[in-house]
Amino acid sequence: MKIIVKKDKDEASKIAAEMIKELLVSKESPTLGLATGSTPITLYQQLIEMNKKNEISFRNVKTVNLDEYIGLDGSHPQSYRFFMNENLFNHVDIDKSNTHVPNGNPSSLDEEAKNYEKIIDSLGHIDIQILGVGPNGHIGFNEPNTHLQLYTHVEDLTQTTIEANSRFFDSIDQVPKKAISMGIGSIFKAKKIIVLAFGKNKADAIKDLSHDEISTNLPVSILKLHPDVTLILDEDAASLL
Ligand code: F6R
Repeated sequence: MKIIVKKDKDEASKIAAEMIKELLVSKESPTLGLATGSTPITLYQQLIEMNKKNEISFRNVKTVNLDEYIGLDGSHPQSYRFFMNENLFNHVDIDKSNTHVPNGNPSSLDEEAKNYEKIIDSLGHIDIQILGVGPNGHIGFNEPNTHLQLYTHVEDLTQTTIEANSRFFDSIDQVPKKAISMGIGSIFKAKKIIVLAFGKNKADAIKDLSHDEISTNLPVSILKLHPDVTLILDEDAASLL
């Protein structure tokens, strides 16, 4: 795992934006794996800027998102589909039919999970997968546990995650308790993975990650087994290294 530390999230996100630019200008029909949450917002703003300046185009880009809350449909302001439209898709030249976010309100969750994994496979390899990290070391919504699921599945959110994400909701009671998430095996289908972690509340997870071991109790540590991972930190996230 390659580690890059930058002064702040602007500079850190710029590294990821340049890696995505390099892919978009060199590949005819690239696939991006995308994340939501606070972490990738700066990156998405930088990609929007590059698109406005005609440095990159999303016309032939396909995207697949990591996860969605169960119980929220795509028109809910806290749904991840809504987030992606607001923070990226509505501002670039992407064809929304090429963008994929799991449906959080399907008639059958099992079917949705199976179909989503099929969609990932039908896109060929994800060229670059963007990941954030939970304060507890989760990636996607693969929460710390004695075992981790390989493919798209329903996950019970931990209390830590519910608390961390309550900042986006009016009250903690409104935070969904379950999510549908790509699994570790789905994430490993990506050719290249970029993990972003910013802020002091990520410093403990990043410190644990620096130990010479892997653990399902720190899902991000499993990424050490993937051949092409770049971890990009700001100084706060790297402060305990
Ligand atoms: C989001 C996701 C999560 C977040 C993580 C960090 O799609 O899969 O793993 O990346 O919870 O969230 P933020 O960026 O809000 O700190």
